[in-house]
This record gives sequence, C-alpha cells and structure tokens, in this order.
Amino acid sequence: MSNIRFFVDYFKHYLTSNSRHGVHSPFVYNLIDRVIYDFSTKEYANPIEELREQLKNDTRTIRITDLGAGSMLNNGKVKQIRSLAKNALKPPRVAKLIARLANEFQPASIIELGTCLGITTLYLSKASNSSHIITVEGCPETAKVAMENFKRLDVNNIETRTGNFDILFPQIVEELPRIDFLFIDGNHRKDATLKYFYDCLPKVHAGSILIFDDIYWSEGMKEAWQEIKNHPQVTVTIDLFYIGLVFFKPDQVKENFKVRFH
Ligand SMILES: C[S@@+](CC[C@H](N)C(=O)[O-])C[C@H]1O[C@@H](n2cnc3c(N)ncnc32)[C@H](O)[C@@H]1O
Repeated sequence: MSNIRFFVDYFKHYLTSNSRHGVHSPFVYNLIDRVIYDFSTKEYANPIEELREQLKNDTRTIRITDLGAGSMLNNGKVKQIRSLAKNALKPPRVAKLIARLANEFQPASIIELGTCLGITTLYLSKASNSSHIITVEGCPETAKVAMENFKRLDVNNIETRTGNFDILFPQIVEELPRIDFLFIDGNHRKDATLKYFYDCLPKVHAGSILIFDDIYWSEGMKEAWQEIKNHPQVTVTIDLFYIGLVFFKPDQVKENFKVRFH
C-alpha cells in the first residue's frame, strides 16, 4: 500500500462524504443517527479494551502462518503478541462500530473472517450475545491466543475454526441456512474478496449485512469494492472509508452512500 495514495484517498473521501444530513433514505438516516454516530460508552467495551492493553505488553512470541495478502512479508516469522496487538487489530473506534452494528441487527449467526487475537470477535460476542459467532483464523498459533482470550473474558457464543478462508468459508456458507452478518477482515486481495462476496450471495436475504474491511487498502481492493457496489443484488452500500457496509434490502432504491467516520 502506498502511503501517499492512501492519504489522497482519505482526503478525497473526507471532501466527498456526508454526515446524516442530506440522506433521504429513512433506513440509512436511522442507521447513521442511531448506530454509526452513537459514541456513548458501552459497558462491555471496558474489559475488552483492558485485554487489548495487556496484549500490547505481551512479549510472548508466536510463529506466524500468513495465508493473506501480507504472506510474502510475514509467513514463518516469529512475532511478539504485542506487535500483533499494536498493528493487526481493528482500532477501538472501528471495533466498537462493528459491535454496535451487531447489536442493532441481532443476527442469529455472525461470521468473521480474520480472528487474529480475537478482539473484534469479543466485541461481536458481547454486543450480540444471543448470536452464534463463527470466526476463522489461518494461523494456528494466533488462533490459540484468541481462544485463550475468549476463555479469559468468559464468552461462550464463539466457535473458532482454524484454516484457510478459501476452504472453510464455502463450507460455512453451505452449513448455515442463511448469511445474516459477515465481517471480512483478512486476505485483502481483489480476487479473494470478490470470491468471498460471490460465495455468500446464494444465502443473503433482505436483513443481511456484509462488512468489508480496508476497502481503500490497494487498487485491487478499490476495484473489488466498486464491483460489489455495482452488483444488481446489492441495493444499499455505505462507504465509511475504513469499512464498507453492504445491504440487500429489496424495498430500497439502489444507492451508494459515503458517510464521514474520520
Ligand atoms: C487484520 S487481522 C484480523 C483482526 C481482527 N478481526 C480484529 O480486529 O481483532 C487478519 C487475520 O486474518 C488472517 N488471514 C488472512 N488471510 C487468511 C486466509 N486466507 N485464511 C485464513 N486466515 C487468514 C490473518 O492470519 C490475520 O490474523
């Protein structure tokens, strides 16, 4: 990723995005007003952020198996847990937003592709405690630490599966009656991202939400996001720069929103 290009995209997004004003769709207006811009304190966040701080000081080392877009750089490297905690996780502001979305939609099932240390998984678990969460991680040693974290915070609605998204995701789609809530946070390659999108289409419904991370990460990710927005089954998208939300509501006029969340 080129830093200059990323910052140019960031400023372009800043200049061309809106807050809730000027949004005519009641569904999107309400989502922005009540969920996206709800910055009130949530009690469930405190223990998760305490755990994040502990992980940022955790000097234990693990061997990284990287099946994603960073595999050329990271595969086989030994890293300290604290380096993953500092660099690989969704920051609190974004993780909290994803939790609020789960809380709003109360999906029967949640799929997260990319567990890492399990911080966003914990947010999903606490914000929507009646959901069954399936989280997938390709690095066995990282997944082991995530599972330790789930025990530490005493959650029992998370199922961790270890392996490659390319193999496990189609199996999960096959198993579930429908896709309610999918958060894709790993393997930021254009072809892989589009494959996961097309894999889940047969099981999406009017209440589904898909969340794509890092939609401006590379030219390939920008192209993938463009193709997703243009897909005829997609009605509403909300581009928040860091993440993109995708909805399939048949009663909505097809519209792509850019909302300021900087
Ligand atoms: C950005 S991290 C996830 C962060 C996590 N969702 C959070 O915010 O707490 C992405 C994770 O996806 C995993 N990953 C990337 N590509 C993968 C693939 N093809 N199969 C399985 N895991 C993969 C990586 O090992 C990494 O731990």
